[in-house]
Amino acid sequence: MRQQVLAANWKMYKTLEEGRAFAQEFLPLLADNAAEVIICPPLTLLGELRQQFTGSRVKLGVQNIYWENEGAYTGEISAAQAADSGATYCLTGHSERRQHFGETAATVALKAAAALKAGLVPIVCVGETLPERESGQTLALLHDDVIASLSGIAPQANLIIAYEPVWAIGTGKVATPQDAEEAIAHLRASVAEIWGEMAQKLRILYGGSVKPDNIAALLNCENIDGALVGGASLNAQSFAAIVNAAK
Ligand code: PGA
Repeated sequence: MRQQVLAANWKMYKTLEEGRAFAQEFLPLLADNAAEVIICPPLTLLGELRQQFTGSRVKLGVQNIYWENEGAYTGEISAAQAADSGATYCLTGHSERRQHFGETAATVALKAAAALKAGLVPIVCVGETLPERESGQTLALLHDDVIASLSGIAPQANLIIAYEPVWAIGTGKVATPQDAEEAIAHLRASVAEIWGEMAQKLRILYGGSVKPDNIAALLNCENIDGALVGGASLNAQSFAAIVNAAK
């Protein structure tokens, strides 16, 4: 059995005060289940949330890192710095970073490797655009992208993949559980080509317009091990409802 994971991606939202208020409202709402709960806030909130969530089951992640250990890279942070500031997870290759900041499968692989080296669990994001889906390229593209994004990384259970169809992110258009399951089963089979049996231990999440009212059907699918949640994770009540839907 793979432990379910519910991860929040706050993107570039929330002030310190809003982050603190979220934490105080969120913790008492959490039901007792076995799911891993992760919040990836903007870096400016990491220190405050680290304090707020000390002693709780909520873990923190960053939304991006650079792959070098240190150096003259103005504006970037390393995996070791993220870990030092309280993060235990790191998103890599979110579609917004691929779209606005030029990330490619090759840089995602470098970042995932750097994250692992620093003891962070990478959450490697992959997903097709609407034209790619409509032209029937989804499965081939996911296969090639996940293999390229894991290039040079040894088989391990300490890495999470998030299937995030670009057309479902922030649009209110959630993939059907059948489409999400098909894509995620295909991702697992693709990883098995390079990682063998380890692919069965790997957690693969769905992301894209996940809400309290669609999470249960997604979590019911055999290959879907959780969700990466954007918009609905900004509200304590709705993210708690999503987490509480897990086993
Ligand atoms: P959304 O974002 O839940 O707002 O669609 C998901 C994501 O970008 O990870």
